[in-house]
Amino acid sequence: MTPLAWKPQYAIRHETIDAQHQNLFALYNAMVVLPPESVDRERLMDDLCEYGLFHFAEEEALMRSENYPKAAFERHCRSHKLFFRTVQRLRSQSAETALAFFREWLVRHILGEDQDIGHFLERPHA
Ligand SMILES: [Fe+2]
Ligand SMILES: [Fe+2]
Repeated sequence: MTPLAWKPQYAIRHETIDAQHQNLFALYNAMVVLPPESVDRERLMDDLCEYGLFHFAEEEALMRSENYPKAAFERHCRSHKLFFRTVQRLRSQSAETALAFFREWLVRHILGEDQDIGHFLERPHA
């Protein structure tokens, strides 16, 4: 698997969230460059999952504090939860499958639901 490169279109234009997304990319990249037999794989995968959970909590707290529309907020939280459950399930099968899913989901989620947060924050709202 090739490392994930950050692109300007991934930015949602919120400093903290963009920095956290970049940290997720860096953690993912640290995993994919490891040789498959490396003893650090499990630990790095734990770090990635732990940071992912931290990031989801932060993003959800931001939406809550900005009065993000309820239906979109709930959908977004559900999508975080489902993602995490899927990664855990895939992880028990193979780290490769979990990482492939992680990569695909993360990019799609940042370009979709996370971008919606950026657009919402830029619009004037009460
Ligand atoms: Fe998100
Ligand atoms: Fe995010």
